[in-house]
Amino acid sequence: MSIGFIGSGAMASAIARGAVAAGLDGATLVFTDAHGTHAPALAEELGGSVAPSNAALAERVDLILLGVKPHLQSDVIGEIRAVVTARGEDVCVVSIAAGRSLETMETDFGASVPLVRVMPNVNAQIGESMTALCASESVSDAQLTAVRDLFDSIGRCVRIEEQDFPVFSALAGCSPAWVFQIIDALARAGVRHGLPKQRAVAIVAQALSGSAQLVLEAVDHDVIPAQLIDQVTSPGGTTIAGLIAAEGAGLSTSLIMAVDAAVARDHELG
Ligand SMILES: NC(=O)c1ccc[n+]([C@@H]2O[C@H](COP(=O)([O-])OP(=O)(O)OC[C@H]3O[C@@H](n4cnc5c(N)ncnc54)[C@H](OP(=O)(O)O)[C@@H]3O)[C@@H](O)[C@H]2O)c1
Repeated sequence: MSIGFIGSGAMASAIARGAVAAGLDGATLVFTDAHGTHAPALAEELGGSVAPSNAALAERVDLILLGVKPHLQSDVIGEIRAVVTARGEDVCVVSIAAGRSLETMETDFGASVPLVRVMPNVNAQIGESMTALCASESVSDAQLTAVRDLFDSIGRCVRIEEQDFPVFSALAGCSPAWVFQIIDALARAGVRHGLPKQRAVAIVAQALSGSAQLVLEAVDHDVIPAQLIDQVTSPGGTTIAGLIAAEGAGLSTSLIMAVDAAVARDHELG
């Protein structure tokens, strides 16, 4: 299945590189951009090609991935509308634009076309994205499988209801920033106790990365984080002392409030 990337920026290149690293033939990839630099560079790196226009790209691929910023998407859809609607169910359009619903895109196309809305996160850059997708009814099983395979190649991908995008966006799209804040705060505590900042950051990041891996393995065996907490809090020990202090200062409550605030803001923007 050939894939055309309209926009060859940060996210599109992370997806394309991940797909090729996972075994996709780079020759099946086609790129465009706005200024004629990123698309040729990416095509050369991955063994793909460059299309002379967005409409020309839409003519020749099976999946079109819209990788432009959300405010540019309507204009780009305008450039490919005639080709896509003429091709009917032969071509599937995939959007990674934050906040652009299936209904909005369908209105831009002025017709029912196979559409998939996808939300990857920043960790796509290292092949560790947590991605969600939802699809319009006209998307075929083969098209959906191709899109899932594409995003599984840059991390993990789940299908959710479109109404759950705001909470998914908070839990997976915003949470990396909160985790960076948590890492920085813990490292500052290390500095307070005499460690150099850079070393403290590396220690905390590895500890949190390992903990996240452990949770992912445990969940597969129906073990929840609360059970892991009980395993590592020995009676009268340091961990339970720290846990009670952190909860006293509102650790769980502050994270739940962060999700509530992000979901509320998403609804305001949408
Ligand atoms: N970055 C993230 O972590 C992240 C996470 C989730 C979702 N997203 C979504 O991913 C999308 C892209 O974000 P990004 O961070 O990858 O942006 P980016 O790095 O700025 O890339 C945007 C790309 O769009 C190209 N472009 C602009 N107008 C175009 C046009 N008319 N035709 C063809 N290409 C055009 C640009 O071309 P030039 O290279 O020539 O300027 C650039 O290659 C956004 O919708 C965003 O919401 C991003």
